[in-house]
Amino acid sequence: MSSELSPIEKAKFVAAKQATEYVESGMKVGLGTGSTAEWLVQCLGEMVREEGLKIKGVPTSKRTARLAMKVGIDVITLDEAKWLDVTIDGTDEYDTDLSLIKGGGGAHLHEKVVATASDRMIVIADASKKVDTLGAFPLPVEVIPFGLPVTQSLIEETLNGLDVLGREVTLRMKGDAPFVTDEGNFILDLHLKRIGNPRQLGLVINQIPGVVENGLFIDICDVVIVGHGDGRVTTRDITNNTTNVVRFDVLDDDNIFSDIAD
Ligand code: A5P
Repeated sequence: MSSELSPIEKAKFVAAKQATEYVESGMKVGLGTGSTAEWLVQCLGEMVREEGLKIKGVPTSKRTARLAMKVGIDVITLDEAKWLDVTIDGTDEYDTDLSLIKGGGGAHLHEKVVATASDRMIVIADASKKVDTLGAFPLPVEVIPFGLPVTQSLIEETLNGLDVLGREVTLRMKGDAPFVTDEGNFILDLHLKRIGNPRQLGLVINQIPGVVENGLFIDICDVVIVGHGDGRVTTRDITNNTTNVVRFDVLDDDNIFSDIAD
């Protein structure tokens, strides 16, 4: 099975595997959404089944909830958990300050609520997610369906006064219909190309009526774990200003990959 994994999938896997070092029995763990977070859920499921790890998982999407239950993780709601020890999630972009753009999978609202309700947020990624300046990835903004054209116009007007390079706003579609989030809302993607002041942009966008939440995560992420296709993993922790590199030698072990990739 390992020979079928592309270098990018190997990178996601080793990042996820390293992130499990932050999870201990007894913890309440926020489970992110997306292809990288799915590797994490698979790894944690394996630890639950084979090593007796005892955790409660709070999924950030219906998709993650289904996978977590399938692999044997005890799933609870955020209301039941109240507060989490750690949330581990993927990202669409991260910069040097560990500011993020999330929401490529349409789950950033729940992801932000869950991450904010955690002692620590850890991001897992492959190296392609690192940027000098946020904004090449379109910024997702969750909006209520009511008054959508008005909300979109207000966002477009607001962007005229902000330090961004592009100002196109598009409604995310799924086939012929708008993409609908787990909360029953729509997503507007803001094609900004370059965000000069992410903190200001996030605050201003969220002031617009009809906007529920944008995909900028500022001062939320504490640690980024970056995997590489050759098994190297770099962990950067901005809470204690450390960077560590480890290397996994598991990439040729067919059993490990067949366990988690099937
Ligand atoms: C989901 O809405 C997103 O925030 C994801 O966490 C993000 O898109 C990363 O996804 P991948 O791990 O699939 O790149």
